[in-house]
Amino acid sequence: MPLLEGKMTCVDCHNPHGSTSNSLLKDDSVNETCYQCHTEKRGPFLWEHAPVRDNCMNCHNPHGSNHDKLLQVARPFLCQQCHANAAFHQTNLFNAASWWAAARP
Ligand code: HEC
Ligand code: HEC
Ligand code: HEC
Ligand code: HEC
Repeated sequence: MPLLEGKMTCVDCHNPHGSTSNSLLKDDSVNETCYQCHTEKRGPFLWEHAPVRDNCMNCHNPHGSNHDKLLQVARPFLCQQCHANAAFHQTNLFNAASWWAAARP
């Protein structure tokens, strides 16, 4: 995120004097911290994705990362950490052969 550009600083997310949450976050949780600026990610959504509601840090590292979009892990491995259904398209190339061999949704 644009800290070096001076558009935000450590204290947009942390309170160095102390706080009620882990890692001296300004807000009550990681997600509340992120919603300050990324309001559209709060929803409400009709269909939600459990790991997003649980904690943005399941997929992102707000301090920076070597993967685009501050991701913790590169895609597709990011998703396959949880979606590892062997013999289905989550782990396999989905082509005509795999369709007949395994998937048949
Ligand atoms: C966009 C929000 C955000 C900004 C900006 C930010 N942090 Fe954090 N920081 C977090 C979150 C979220 C955590 C993890 C909280 C948790 O794990 O519960 C964290 C954790 C930490 C920790 C605890 C150890 C660790 O690495 O997990 C330290 C130390 C820390 N930040 C320092 C800094 C410093 C110094 C800056 C400014 C250079 C900074 N942070 C800027 C969100 C931010
Ligand atoms: C103080 C405001 C602020 C807070 C709080 C904040 N962000 Fe950001 N975030 C930004 C800005 C500004 C950008 C850059 C947007 C742009 O370049 O269009 C950004 C960009 C991002 C990006 C995209 C990076 C990219 O390479 O495109 C991700 C992912 C992200 N933030 C995640 C988080 C997460 C997770 C948290 C909570 C831990 C968080 N942000 C909290 C302001 C914030
Ligand atoms: C299940 C994994 C996952 C979780 C959890 C997650 N994200 Fe993301 N996020 C992604 C991926 C993947 C991208 C890249 C999308 C792309 O390349 O278009 C992304 C992109 C972003 C971006 C930049 C592009 C955009 O849509 O604005 C922001 C900002 C962002 N996430 C914020 C958040 C916040 C805030 C949370 C917590 C409420 C969160 N993310 C939780 C996977 C996740
Ligand atoms: C930390 C674990 C985790 C990660 C990482 C993760 N997911 Fe999920 N995902 C879940 C859980 C839990 C559910 C809900 C499963 C259920 O309800 O049976 C889910 C559900 C889904 C669904 C089905 C939603 C529905 O309404 O049926 C899709 C599609 C999905 N995830 C895509 C992705 C993608 C794409 C990524 C990577 C960007 C990803 N997931 C990363 C845990 C994860």
